[in-house]
Amino acid sequence: MKKNVFLLILCLFVVLTACGKQQTSSNPHEKEEKASFYKKENQERYQAYQKQMPDLSFKDVILRVNIGLDQPYYTHTVESPYQNTNQLLVNKYYYLGEDYVPKNLVELDGTYSKGGIYLVKEAAQAFQKMVDQAKADGYSIRAISAYRSYQYQVHLYQRYVDQDGQEEADTYSARPGFSEHQTGLCVDVDNRVMDFNHFEETKSFQWMMENAARYGFILRYPKGKEAITGYQYEAWHYRYVGEEIANDIKEHGMTYDEYYMEFIDKE
Ligand code: DAL
Ligand code: ZN
Repeated sequence: MKKNVFLLILCLFVVLTACGKQQTSSNPHEKEEKASFYKKENQERYQAYQKQMPDLSFKDVILRVNIGLDQPYYTHTVESPYQNTNQLLVNKYYYLGEDYVPKNLVELDGTYSKGGIYLVKEAAQAFQKMVDQAKADGYSIRAISAYRSYQYQVHLYQRYVDQDGQEEADTYSARPGFSEHQTGLCVDVDNRVMDFNHFEETKSFQWMMENAARYGFILRYPKGKEAITGYQYEAWHYRYVGEEIANDIKEHGMTYDEYYMEFIDKE
C-alpha cells in the first residue's frame, strides 16, 4: 500500500515537472509577458515589430513599441502625464500643451549661466551644486539654454526648418510642444570657451560623463541611441531626473525613453 502511494506521488511529480518544462520552453517570452511593462493591447504591434526587427530582444521590442517607435514620429501622440514632476517624459510621441509652463521656475545666477536662463527650482539647485564641484575640480560648465516656452520653440523650430528643410531640422530640433526644454528640467551647456557644438571635445564633457548622474543629470540624447531618442547625438544636453534614476540610467546605459517605459509608465 505504502509503495503504491509512493509510486503515485513520484508519477505526479514527474508529470508536473514535465508540464512545467514544456510550458517554459514553448513560450520564450513568458517572462516579458508577465512584466509590468507588457501591454496586452499592444500584442499585435509587438509581433509585427519583432518581424521587422528580428535582431532585437523581445524586451527591447516591447519597450520600443511602448515608446511608439513602430509608428512614424509625431503620430499617435499623447499628452505627457507626470506634469510638474521629475519623471515627466517629452519626446516625439509625448507632448506638452501650448499653455504648459512648469511651476517653480527660477533664474540661474550669472555665475552659472550666460544670463536669462530658467530651470525648475530643484533642477537649478542641483545644477548649481554640480557646477560648483566641477569648478572646484578645475572645470568650467555654464548653462546656455534651459527652459524654453512653447512660443519660443515655435520660432526656433521654424528658423531651423527655413534654414535646413523640415526633414533635416527634425533630426536636431523638436517641434513646438515636443521639446524637453519646455519641461524646465533640462539644460544645454558649454565650457565658456568653445561653441556648445564642440562640448564633446572638452575636459568639462569628460567630467560630466563621470559626475553628472551624482547630481541627478543624464545625457539625454546619447551617441548610438538616435533610433530610440529620435535625435542626433547631443553632448551638451542634460536632463534632470533626480539622483536615483540618473544613477540607474547611467549604470544600465539606457535612454530615458526606455527607462520610463520599463519603470515609470503605469498607464
Ligand atoms: N534639440 C532638442 C532636441 C530640442 O529641440 O528640444
Ligand atoms: Zn537642449
